[in-house]
Amino acid sequence: MNTQLTLNDPLVNRNWADYYDAVRGHPPRNTLITALNLFDAQENFGNKLAVDLGCGDGRDTIELIRRNWNVLAIDGERTAITRLKNRSDLDHTLLQTQIIRFEVLKLPLETDLINASFSLPFCPSSAFFTLWEKIVKSLRSGGRFSGQFFGDRDSWAIYPSMTHLSCQQVEILLKPFEVELFQEQEQDGLTPLKENRHWHIFQIVARKR
Ligand SMILES: C[S@@+](CC[C@H](N)C(=O)[O-])C[C@H]1O[C@@H](n2cnc3c(N)ncnc32)[C@H](O)[C@@H]1O
Repeated sequence: MNTQLTLNDPLVNRNWADYYDAVRGHPPRNTLITALNLFDAQENFGNKLAVDLGCGDGRDTIELIRRNWNVLAIDGERTAITRLKNRSDLDHTLLQTQIIRFEVLKLPLETDLINASFSLPFCPSSAFFTLWEKIVKSLRSGGRFSGQFFGDRDSWAIYPSMTHLSCQQVEILLKPFEVELFQEQEQDGLTPLKENRHWHIFQIVARKR
């Protein structure tokens, strides 16, 4: 490990509670909504299981439960799960939670949906491809992935604690899938914490073959 680089990486030991405060009350992500609408349009099945990876304090989990999905909400931050469990606007009988880091995660088999909104880029690249294999293995055939990857022109691509991918790498990851939404977006902007940054994002919804 390059200790010098790690010490200079401001995203290591980030205070996620500030982020949760900044996005409090924001609506569910469009990638999640797209995936859920595709399920609603194409399939009529009961007892659906979603994993919300890097759920934060529940922006997407809440929507899944509102639509009657069983949800395993996972985050590495205890604060995220505590905040999620303290929310009054959800049916707790549909919710399971786990506090665990992506680097050591185990996922259930035969999941219908794995949603990872703005979370996978925060997995270190040394663990990312193993994590992605686990995601693909966990999904049943016909199950979906929804979420984002960060691209290699993103301003945080200099930080070693994260994973940034080229367009070609994203296409390779998606080979086991039929891609239903693939949007590459690039623009200058602000983070929810008002930090200036150049965003390079891939917005993805994909159905496992
Ligand atoms: C940008 S937030 C996204 C939260 C939520 N999904 C949303 O869309 O607002 C990223 C989340 O991923 C979690 N996270 C980051 N790195 C992680 C890791 N290595 N293992 C587990 N969770 C991680 C953070 O704790 C945080 O809640």
